[in-house]
Amino acid sequence: MSDETSFQAPKGTFDLLPPDSAVFLAVRDALSAPARRAGYGYVETPGFESVGLFSRGVGESTDIVTKEMYTLTTKGGTELALRPEGTASVLRAALQANLHRGGNLPVKLWYSGSYYRYERPQAGRYRHFSQVGAEAIGAEDPLLDTELIVLAVDGYRSLGLTGFRLLLNTLGDRECRPVYRAALQDFLRGLDLDEETRRRIEINPLRVLDDKRESVQRQLAGAPLIGDHLCEACKEYHEQVRDLLTASGVAFEDDPRLVRGLDYYTRTTFEFVHDGLGSQSAIGGGGRYDGLSEMIGGPSLPSVGWALGVDRTVLALRSEGVALDLPAATDVYAVPMGEEARRTLFTVVTELRRAGVAADMAFGGRSVKNAMKSANRSGARFALIAGERDLADGVVQIKDLAGGEQEPVALNEVVAAVKSRLG
Ligand code: HAM
Repeated sequence: MSDETSFQAPKGTFDLLPPDSAVFLAVRDALSAPARRAGYGYVETPGFESVGLFSRGVGESTDIVTKEMYTLTTKGGTELALRPEGTASVLRAALQANLHRGGNLPVKLWYSGSYYRYERPQAGRYRHFSQVGAEAIGAEDPLLDTELIVLAVDGYRSLGLTGFRLLLNTLGDRECRPVYRAALQDFLRGLDLDEETRRRIEINPLRVLDDKRESVQRQLAGAPLIGDHLCEACKEYHEQVRDLLTASGVAFEDDPRLVRGLDYYTRTTFEFVHDGLGSQSAIGGGGRYDGLSEMIGGPSLPSVGWALGVDRTVLALRSEGVALDLPAATDVYAVPMGEEARRTLFTVVTELRRAGVAADMAFGGRSVKNAMKSANRSGARFALIAGERDLADGVVQIKDLAGGEQEPVALNEVVAAVKSRLG
């Protein structure tokens, strides 16, 4: 605990500080870049919404809604929840603004932000975390499901990540899912399960497949699988997605037991898992949600999307030992000797910044030795040093901080000289 304040970041949260924060920004940027190149426009929605949006959208019986939502009642009596995920909000925003009208479907949107779930904190699982997401609203086309998966894979690959796998499944549609659900319930009711799990069979039987306990998993060996209950249309749709993924050079593993923690999914569902992360191995996930719009009071709008976890992607990079090639925060660091030099170098630094060079300087009248330390620590390639004699000669010294060479440059040529040295 710090001596300076008795306050701490709340349990399950952490602060992002330099230099690590630069990695987070770069990861957000890299994960969203493929979607931005593919016609997805940026959307930003409020950090909180009506509780009902999530209980109806994400599902009354999901852990996210029953256990993990941060809810509050406003002074006016409105029930709000901090957003536990982005899809319901983004669809709500698109519907509210009528983006789906006018025939230009799908509406393609991407987003990036903070999400909140009251989960038991552990490595890779936080109560405040960060996602980059993309949603394609209003079209049913296996090309679109494939496009989104490819965009996510390209985002991970662009970071240099290699140790991830794509798990793929289909959950059927409103025609075949109910038949499967009933068959699964019949099977599950015959097992030796605890009271809570028995209740789950009646409300949300697919979630039982996702039970991590060994004693449960052993009994699930012969459980009916959705793959054997798909209607022709769903079977055909899924085959097309699989073929298109293969044609796009994306490897996947069929996982007939992949169940996601949100209820809105239909047909294509997928998860990206990374083997270097321990139990919180999902670095991203998504799928098709053809019924969600109707669930929240909109028209029929078949849609598909994903969200990629920024925090877990950073952990995955660390576990693979991948260091991102980040641009230096500072290229040039100015070290003034004396009051006149402070003013002159401040002007030079301002000019450099306006010319697009990342420049910083020593503030607060620090000793030269101390300021040089900061110059070295800043990662800058060059220091600009000036004292009274330099200013009398109309020059500043440019020092190469790696090599140590130093030479004078006329004051009015500093920007050009720095730019040519930086290449
Ligand atoms: P999700 O699988 O709940 O899906 O979350 C997506 C990703 O967010 C996860 O794979 C994980 O990387 C990250 N994540 C989730 N919870 C936490 C946590 N407590 N701490 C750290 N990271 C976490 C969704 O949220 C859906 N809205 C995805 C989607 C978009 N489906 C269709 N469109």
